[in-house]
Amino acid sequence: MVEKTLAIIKPHAVAGKNSGVVIDLIEKAGFDILRMQKIQLTKTQAEKFYAVHKEKPFFGGLVTNVTSGPAILMVLQKDNAIKAWRDFMGATDPLKAEPGTIRKLYGESIDFNVTHGSDSPENAVLEIRQFFPDLA
Ligand code: RTP
Ligand code: MG
Repeated sequence: MVEKTLAIIKPHAVAGKNSGVVIDLIEKAGFDILRMQKIQLTKTQAEKFYAVHKEKPFFGGLVTNVTSGPAILMVLQKDNAIKAWRDFMGATDPLKAEPGTIRKLYGESIDFNVTHGSDSPENAVLEIRQFFPDLA
């Protein structure tokens, strides 16, 4: 089934000049980039986006990191896009990610793991709606 998912190239990867190579990998893997926007998330936007984690000990650091500079937000489309993009990103902790995945290739640590991807169809709709309501 053709699906849409929300992908983010996180600020540390943009600052580290890895956005181009990640976009190249996304295109070569057969995802259609339906929308792409470079913006610096506000604290309010980030807290809403990661609200599911608000009780976690890493929440404050996560919000700080994701708002630390411009990020690149994309709506990706592909067959089974949600799982395909999660699989292509690799495990949350780059040390545990499979060879060839984006987080293995370019991740520095669990806090600086290059990309975000929606984790379910329900969350993909909510995340796309937050930033690109015309595509949700
Ligand atoms: P994401 O939401 O960014 O795509 O990452 P994910 O689904 O693989 O991981 P998730 O559990 O949703 O966590 C969101 C982000 O929070 C940071 N994190 N830190 N220190 C920790 O134990 C920890 N756990 C998660 C990561 O940067 C993760 O991407
Ligand atoms: Mg997540």
